[in-house]
Amino acid sequence: MRVLVTGAGGMVGRAVVDYCAAQGDQVLAHDRHSLDIADAAAVCATFERERPQVIINCAAWTDVDGCELNPQRAYEANALGPENLAAHGRRVGASLVTISTDFVFDGVKDGFYTQRDDPNPKSVYAAAKLDGERRAQAANARTSVVRTGWVFGVGGRNFLSLVIERARRGERLKAISDAYGTPTYAKDLAARLRRLAELDLPGVYHVVNSGEGASFEEFARAALAAAVCDPAVIESVRMDSLSRPAPRPRNSRLRCLLSPAIGLEPLPHWTVALKDFAAAGARSEATA
Ligand SMILES: NC(=O)c1ccc[n+]([C@@H]2O[C@H](COP(=O)([O-])OP(=O)(O)OC[C@H]3O[C@@H](n4cnc5c(N)ncnc54)[C@H](OP(=O)(O)O)[C@@H]3O)[C@@H](O)[C@H]2O)c1
Repeated sequence: MRVLVTGAGGMVGRAVVDYCAAQGDQVLAHDRHSLDIADAAAVCATFERERPQVIINCAAWTDVDGCELNPQRAYEANALGPENLAAHGRRVGASLVTISTDFVFDGVKDGFYTQRDDPNPKSVYAAAKLDGERRAQAANARTSVVRTGWVFGVGGRNFLSLVIERARRGERLKAISDAYGTPTYAKDLAARLRRLAELDLPGVYHVVNSGEGASFEEFARAALAAAVCDPAVIESVRMDSLSRPAPRPRNSRLRCLLSPAIGLEPLPHWTVALKDFAAAGARSEATA
């Protein structure tokens, strides 16, 4: 496939570029500097020149608190961006796979959110992402929206990398005990994004690793165990005790109704993925 990847400098973007290249795809990788997805003219010119068959959108402004304080920038990157990619993709005959978030749900439900649940975003970030889903679907029928959960991966400055890094320095860590999500490994997500691109079956998918999900605290403890760090550095805190500009859902665990219906295998359990993540981290340290 001739795949154009946006947000290629980010955590998921890097995993997608590596995975697609390993599958033998012709990969057109763009970070924010080579393609700002909010810039419609730049998107148009890039697509005309590079003629992708498939676009995998990994670009987003993911600073949830930053979005709350700067809604215009959030809207441009997370709502207009996917619409630009969908509309200009359509002009050159390309399909779009665009990533969205578990935060589109309000978190009041117990159990898993599926495609049968109505989104009800509570933050500017989440509202812009939902707007992006809908704009993209309206601009190009060949759009697959992939909502994912708490993503961890090699190379990104994500919650888990920070946890492990700080534990190794012996620093104490606060981890929320009463917010629940579905941990998702960037490498597994990348493989599923490519598979969905290949299938070209438009819809809204929920893509997360298997398991019952976890609280941030359980997730952090499991990561420290996988990285052979002392979990005693973790201090358990309640979500309400942190004052942050943007609200987060108390529960944003996802489950997909469509994936099993079209014969897609469940992704590995998140604890298995964590072991791969910890081993990959150790390998990259050994070669650094
Ligand atoms: N990380 C999670 O836990 C999580 C959970 C649910 C959903 N998601 C979704 O997963 C996707 C990938 O996120 P990620 O974790 O890989 O985040 P990330 O590491 O922050 O990567 C996002 C990339 O997008 C780039 N970007 C920002 N604005 C852009 C623009 N206007 N045009 C082009 N590129 C732009 C960023 O560049 P700069 O860094 O230079 O700004 C960054 O390299 C996003 O759609 C996100 O909403 C992530």
